[in-house]
Amino acid sequence: MKKRFFIRPSISIIAVLALSLEFRAADLTFENLARTPPMGWNSWNKFACNVSEDLIKETADALVSTGMKDAGYEYLVIDDCWQVSRDAEGNIVADAKRFPSGMKALADYVHSKGLKFGLYSDAGTATCQKRPGSKGFEEKDARQYAAWGVDYLKYDWCNTDGQNTHEAYTKMSRALRAAGRPIVFSICEWGSTQPWLWAPGVGNLWRTTGDIQDCWDCSQPWGGMGVIHIIDLQTELHPYAGPGHWNDPDMLEVGNGKMTTAEYRTHFSFWCLLAAPLMAGNDLRNMTPETKEILTNKEVIAVDQDPLGMQGRKVFDAGPTEVWMKPLSGAAHAVILFNRGNVPAPVSVTWEQMGMAPGVEAQVRDLWAKKDLGPFKDRITRTVEPHGVVMLRVQP
Ligand code: GAL
Repeated sequence: MKKRFFIRPSISIIAVLALSLEFRAADLTFENLARTPPMGWNSWNKFACNVSEDLIKETADALVSTGMKDAGYEYLVIDDCWQVSRDAEGNIVADAKRFPSGMKALADYVHSKGLKFGLYSDAGTATCQKRPGSKGFEEKDARQYAAWGVDYLKYDWCNTDGQNTHEAYTKMSRALRAAGRPIVFSICEWGSTQPWLWAPGVGNLWRTTGDIQDCWDCSQPWGGMGVIHIIDLQTELHPYAGPGHWNDPDMLEVGNGKMTTAEYRTHFSFWCLLAAPLMAGNDLRNMTPETKEILTNKEVIAVDQDPLGMQGRKVFDAGPTEVWMKPLSGAAHAVILFNRGNVPAPVSVTWEQMGMAPGVEAQVRDLWAKKDLGPFKDRITRTVEPHGVVMLRVQP
């Protein structure tokens, strides 16, 4: 009797300890996700609903063969339209015509290439393309994703009448944690309820604007917008980003064909200076040398992935010319000299604009020319092409 009396409490103590350790381990794993902005590829910008098992496998292969994986692109995410219905038990059903081997086999294929696998759903009753949403099925879907081997979930905000963003995203965030597999959680409510104020701790990234378009300055009546408008909407958001939680100015359009090479370089440079997630959105199976050279510029990507995790900001604005700056680890700074005008223009950055004392000697490197420009003492001036940037690394 005596023995039993001692054994019972010790078993329950061990069980409680084990459970709390498990929760702590799960928590720590979640906290360790996306310490630098996530990098990968997403199907939407180029392929919209035209997704399939073949496309995803070929893209996985291309991520490896093009050097994109070596440059840091890791998550391969299928956006809207992979799902068609729910079965009698409420389980989400993938489109069997387009994904005949099923999602588990596809995730296994992606993992076999050393990559990670992502899916898309929606907090409402239906996705934006009218496929089943996750409302009321959060736990079931999260468990299903975990069982398939999903590593990244983009969660949209269509068909959500009467729902509250903070509550709905928290619900799915908890469901993902409870499902036990670390899954990067990408919040996509288009910046409509200032997610930067409530989303840290709920998700790892949150969209800050409507949908990006493959254009410099167009805007659509339904909210889609060109690169320059998106950049302008990021100016006040730098205080809210940091390791594990990032502002997301939407996926990349680099290589989709409707902007000039200079404009794509500007687009990519800004996303890196803004510590934005880098989700390529072009056809990786057919990239021009210019597109590949932009997307895989390791020195520019290093600015995005800098471990300090600070988002860059505008430090000077003279109408068509601007200067943006991002503090980097090791007391260095990344700088963008930007010309939004239509004729070439000289643009300068001063050490003072970067918070450095004038007279301090700093080494300056041009990250697109891949050239050391030498030591400078209190400013540097370069001529910048129309819609273009000069991107520098300044190291005192
Ligand atoms: C939008 C979202 C896009 C894409 C699309 C799919 O709401 O912003 O990035 O996911 O839905 O229908």
